[in-house]
Amino acid sequence: MERLTPEAARPGRPVAHAVIGYGRLARALVPALQAAGERVLIGRRSARGGELTAADAAAQADWVWLTVPDDHIAATAAALPWRVGQLALHCSGATPLAALAPAPAAAGFHPLKLLAGDAGLAGAHVGIEAGDAHRPALLALARALGLVPLPLPSPMGAGARAAYHAAANLAASGVLAVLAEAQALWTAAGLDSAEALPALAPLTRGALDAALARGLAGAVSGPIARGDAGVLARHLEALAVAGLDAGLLRELGLRQLALATAAGRLDVAQATALRALLQGR
Ligand SMILES: NC(=O)c1ccc[n+]([C@@H]2O[C@H](COP(=O)([O-])OP(=O)(O)OC[C@H]3O[C@@H](n4cnc5c(N)ncnc54)[C@H](OP(=O)(O)O)[C@@H]3O)[C@@H](O)[C@H]2O)c1
Repeated sequence: MERLTPEAARPGRPVAHAVIGYGRLARALVPALQAAGERVLIGRRSARGGELTAADAAAQADWVWLTVPDDHIAATAAALPWRVGQLALHCSGATPLAALAPAPAAAGFHPLKLLAGDAGLAGAHVGIEAGDAHRPALLALARALGLVPLPLPSPMGAGARAAYHAAANLAASGVLAVLAEAQALWTAAGLDSAEALPALAPLTRGALDAALARGLAGAVSGPIARGDAGVLARHLEALAVAGLDAGLLRELGLRQLALATAAGRLDVAQATALRALLQGR
């Protein structure tokens, strides 16, 4: 068990962090904290040989990170033995800080990053919801971890949190769902499905690079942005022949139409013809 010394404390910084729930987020957070020189104790639901339980780890720490599934944050917080001076943190985008109400103080530290494998945190933005007492230390910690701090409103309401998290989810896993649809069309064309992702992903990267350089409307390309209604009609026909649902293609096509219109790429007749096709009229 790690012994904590008074000299380990620095102004505004915790003596030790407890990270409760050693899943995908924690496996990126813990090494990042350690690399930044922070003391970290890991608390597990089922502690085996040498591991700490959640309660033991939390009891020795000043900042207690609840990196458990969102739906279990409130119950985990309620089960811990809090003491004065501790700060509870979660890394959830969607969960209001009210879930941490049993703790003396609460903050949110939400990395805007999809963590599915060995990816680290560095380079991502991190949404920080904190009161005045802890915001400066959290902003400093974010920078020490190589993250870009994104101060969120404090307090941030449940509805705003849900919308913010829906945006983040759409930008990460939503893109994966779009690529899954593209892969299905690729296969319907008789091409090798194993080649779909390596061939298509650079298109996604290129579109992102263009969007960051020129904005979303400035970057939009393809038949809808060009007003090529004939090509769009052939796309929709191809889905029908393959027996694939065209719902996603139609919805995304309408969003592309809005971007192309905002960019001034289409005249009224072109936009009307494309909208009619996309709406199946
Ligand atoms: N993964 C991402 O890409 C990502 C990105 C940003 C934010 N987040 C946020 O990070 C938090 C953790 O997500 P995650 O992806 O790391 O989840 P995860 O991989 O499922 O890991 C969560 C950990 O919590 C513990 N746990 C599991 N079920 C539990 C339960 N019923 N009650 C209490 N603890 C339980 C387990 O650790 P032990 O076995 O050690 O107990 C598990 O490894 C969430 O709030 C999520 O929104 C995740």
